[in-house]
Amino acid sequence: MVYDKLTYAGNLDNLRDLEDNPRHSFVRGDICDMSLVDRVIQEEQISTILNFAAETHVDRSIFEPGSFIQTDIYGTYVLLEATKKFGLDRMIHISTDEVYGEVMSGSSVESDPLRPRSPYAASKAGGDLICLAYHTTYGTPVVITRGSNSIGPYQYPEKVVPLFITNALDDLPLPLYGDGSQMRDYQYIIDHCEGIDTVLHQGKIGEIYNVGSGVEIRNIDMAKGILRLLKKPESLIQYVEDRPGHDRRYSLDTTKLQSLGWGSRHAFQEALEKTVKWYTENEWWWRKIKSGEYKEWYERQYGKRKILP
Ligand code: DAU
Repeated sequence: MVYDKLTYAGNLDNLRDLEDNPRHSFVRGDICDMSLVDRVIQEEQISTILNFAAETHVDRSIFEPGSFIQTDIYGTYVLLEATKKFGLDRMIHISTDEVYGEVMSGSSVESDPLRPRSPYAASKAGGDLICLAYHTTYGTPVVITRGSNSIGPYQYPEKVVPLFITNALDDLPLPLYGDGSQMRDYQYIIDHCEGIDTVLHQGKIGEIYNVGSGVEIRNIDMAKGILRLLKKPESLIQYVEDRPGHDRRYSLDTTKLQSLGWGSRHAFQEALEKTVKWYTENEWWWRKIKSGEYKEWYERQYGKRKILP
């Protein structure tokens, strides 16, 4: 069962492949709505929750942190309460490498301290901590995964990779923050999901598992890689004013998850190729998104942004 509020980045088109699947059902709802969450769990006899629900975009959290605090912390609390109240088998809480904060050298292990630096990362860290507190205090069966940047089909084009691909397809500038030398671990979404699935079936209650490819790519190289695949000129890259508090680098040590038998299967180049191909072949999906709310966001975010020499 998919339970989703369908806010700006939610979209029933993303579930099209499941439409005729008798094992799939959908309920529109907010994880902050405790009475609806409780009712659905009871009526549908839910045994396990995977909490993918979150406000996720760092730049938006800089403009309006409130919805992040609400969904990513209070919403997580509602799901934990339900897990406890109805004696569910387990709750998997999907988190992020951003809770560790900027990591200038080495890689984060699960026991590292949390040093979130954006309102988004701090909200996710709050969610993680309340999960761990529920496990310690009430024995609630919760497991946390912390993933790196996912790329692949159906990703809302506010995230840098689909933003750059869809802009490049339209010969629009690719707004690269700062000097473009920030590094991210871009992992293919299927690898990320397989990691979560491994944790769902084999993860130990009360534990945290990092999920990432272990390969760090500079944003400038990611942008050039996209342009190369689309045979577009590098002159489309436009250096713009940096994101406030921009974390330069994240890096995950995934030894713990690998010890459960999981491994990342897509190298960065293959992940990027598959992603570029999907957006090239699925304009029907993203063209309608890139109007309405998206246009307003784009104007607010990039309209007056300083262009760097
Ligand atoms: O690391 C995992 C996280 O990855 C997730 O927890 C977040 O939900 C997800 O949004 C993502 O956060 P990032 O801030 O790393 O992703 P984003 O796609 O916004 O940016 C990736 C990098 O690209 C980052 O260094 C900022 C840069 N960037 C981003 C945008 C939107 C640009 O240079 N230009 C842009 O227009």
